[in-house]
Amino acid sequence: MIKMIGVRCVLLLLLGVVASTQGANILGLFSSHSPSHLIIHMSVAKALVEAGHNVTVVSMVKPKVMHKDIHLIVVPMKEEQERIMESQMTEMAVQKSSLVSTMHRLLTSMDVMINAQAELLSDPRFQRIYETKFDLMIMGYFINDFQLGVAHKLKVPVIIDWMSAPVPSIDSYTGNPAELSYVPLMGTVATHPMGILKRAENVVKSLFFDFIFVVFDYKITRIYNDVFPEQEMPSLKELRKNISMAFVGCHLISEGPIRPLVPAIIEIGGIQVKDKPDPLPKDIDQFLSKSQKGAVFLSLGSNIKSSTVKPEIVQSIFKVLSGLKENVIWKWEDLENTPGNSSNILYKNWLPQDDILAHPNTKLFITHAGKGGITEAQYHGVPMVALPIFGDQHGNAALMEKSGYGVALDLLSITEDSLKDALKKVLEDPKYRRAIGQFSSLYRDRPLTAKQSVVFWTEYILRHHGAPNLQSPAVHMNFIQLNNLDIYVLILTILVLFVLLTRLVAKIVWNKFGGKAKISNTKKLQ
Ligand SMILES: *[C@@H]1O[C@H](CO)[C@@H](O)[C@H](O)[C@H]1NC(C)=O
Ligand SMILES: *[C@@H]1O[C@H](CO)[C@@H](O)[C@H](O)[C@H]1NC(C)=O
Repeated sequence: MIKMIGVRCVLLLLLGVVASTQGANILGLFSSHSPSHLIIHMSVAKALVEAGHNVTVVSMVKPKVMHKDIHLIVVPMKEEQERIMESQMTEMAVQKSSLVSTMHRLLTSMDVMINAQAELLSDPRFQRIYETKFDLMIMGYFINDFQLGVAHKLKVPVIIDWMSAPVPSIDSYTGNPAELSYVPLMGTVATHPMGILKRAENVVKSLFFDFIFVVFDYKITRIYNDVFPEQEMPSLKELRKNISMAFVGCHLISEGPIRPLVPAIIEIGGIQVKDKPDPLPKDIDQFLSKSQKGAVFLSLGSNIKSSTVKPEIVQSIFKVLSGLKENVIWKWEDLENTPGNSSNILYKNWLPQDDILAHPNTKLFITHAGKGGITEAQYHGVPMVALPIFGDQHGNAALMEKSGYGVALDLLSITEDSLKDALKKVLEDPKYRRAIGQFSSLYRDRPLTAKQSVVFWTEYILRHHGAPNLQSPAVHMNFIQLNNLDIYVLILTILVLFVLLTRLVAKIVWNKFGGKAKISNTKKLQ
């Protein structure tokens, strides 16, 4: 008996030792206010916890994706900032706004977000993280690179996590080539190869992004110097060159555009999609199972509360949906005041979107075209009708339509007829389901799943204490060097000098011999 206990103790001890060598202390700094960004970042954290790591997450909103073993520290925005963010979003949903006012609102809310993400760093609830010895930091990226100072103070390598395909800032941190002649920037829909107008659009857009980048860079550098005034801190420029890896929420060989990616960029598109769906809540499961003619799923996302959309628009949507032979699951916040009762509509204020899309009876997804929702529908092969409102949603919707996965309308200008037509088309024409089904099979066909990629590459960075071996040398070159502009100038200079020199020599030779010949000729004649 004593022997048995002894053996057990040794076993337990051994297990303890093994577990502690495997589990690294990882800090997830996910301060983006956007719920859709947070879902991606939290899915990364969840994959790492499931792989046995000790993950601490700091966020500003309570995340929807969670795991019981994640140590969560929520430091909310100030109420006033929260109010500004909310009102900017709502205004954009209520009225169709001009490009200028949309830009203004976006810049205002970005400014609030940047400030809030900076203030977080001096909050006592955040400061406590410096008491733990971490091995690695993952930074959810959203114009918050001043937070790289945290990783430097913790003396840990840093991975940045970005929620979609690489944008110019991610390219610049990793030295990834932008290849503007054939890689359309986010929001540019293009056929290939791009014609002269598209390429011009792409270059102009890129210059515009560069300009915005310079403006934000000024602000972000100032914040960095304010938050980390210590003498021994390197400059923010230096820290940006010290990012070990970037996780990006895309899978370009199935989604496009095709472009080269440097080894320090790892694609984890679809990380938020469960490998296997969870069982649905009972009422939803029953509702879907009895939907013999199929079900339509409507969700306008988390940024906009359904009740902030104009009542006339909601009524049009209700009229069309209540007239369908299919059943409808409608995400609606205020269950006391629904748009109307109909035997084919089930309202819910919370829905497991991913699991509903995985159900075989779900035939159509009506979405605000957030990146997350589109990804889930693509993963499960469900065609869509997109009703985008603002920001990247229009671009996502246009791309979705162009790919043949459904039809895109504009939420603020739909009519009963346009919506009815769109639904009819997507529900009745099999080409949409076929196209998205093909995509779905390409999207899932990978050597490592998104979760496995996150775990493998994070542990790679941990094992090697950073990954300078992966870094593109381009990170350390300036624009002139990177594009060999100095070499071209040199070659041009040599060419010009050569031409000038040749002319000079020719002139001298001509004067000396050509001239003499003339003179002697005239002499002979005399
Ligand atoms: C896990 O992380 C927390 C910080 O959130 C820390 O207090 C704790 O000691 C860590 N556990 C281990 C086993 O290192
Ligand atoms: C819908 O039905 C519920 C109860 O089933 C009722 O409380 C509500 O008033 C009805 N709404 C409308 C618009 O008829």
